[in-house]
Amino acid sequence: MKNIILIGFMGVGKGSVAREVIKNSKYMTIDTDDLIESMENRKIKTIFEQEGEQYFRKLEKNLAKWLEKSVQNTLISTGGGFYKQTNLKNIGIIVLLDSPFDAIIKRIQEHPNAVKKLKKRPLLEDLKKAKALYNERRHEYLKLADIIIDVTDKDVTKCSVELLKKVKKHV
Ligand code: S3P
Repeated sequence: MKNIILIGFMGVGKGSVAREVIKNSKYMTIDTDDLIESMENRKIKTIFEQEGEQYFRKLEKNLAKWLEKSVQNTLISTGGGFYKQTNLKNIGIIVLLDSPFDAIIKRIQEHPNAVKKLKKRPLLEDLKKAKALYNERRHEYLKLADIIIDVTDKDVTKCSVELLKKVKKHV
C-alpha cells in the first residue's frame, strides 16, 4: 500500500475525508498541521504570529523529508500550502480534493464550528486575499494531482467511497 497524500485548499474537508476513509480501509492517517503543532507545542496561528509564515514553511519542508523517508501505508492529510514540497511525488499518490472557492467558504460558514474554523487559519482572515491565493494555487493543485475528487455538495461518505475506488484503480 502506497501512501495517499490529500491536497487541496483550506477548508475543503481534507481532515474530514481522511477520518472517513480510515473507517473503511486499512490506512492509518496523520495530518501535517497536527504534527507541526505537536512538535512545536503551539497552534499554527501562534506559529504564524510569533515566527512568520517562512518559519512555518520550513517546518513543512522538514516534515516532507521525514514523510518520504519514514512513512508508509498512510493517508497523509496536508495543509493547503504543503503541495509546494518538491518531493511530494516521492511520498505517495497525490489526491486533490477540489471545489470552487465560494463553495469552500460556504461549507466553512455553514459548519457549527465556523468561527473556530475561520479563526485558526491566518490565510483565511481576509477573504479577498484568500480568493486570490485560491486562484493562484488551483492550477498548481490540478497539475500535481494523480487523482481529482470534486467534493462540491458531496458528503464525506461519498467522497471516501470515490477516493478508495479511484486509488484502487490507480495502483
Ligand atoms: C495553509 C493551510 C492551513 C495551514 C496553514 C497554511 C495554507 O491548513 O497549514 O494555515 O497555506 O493554505 P488547512 O488547509 O488544513 O487549513
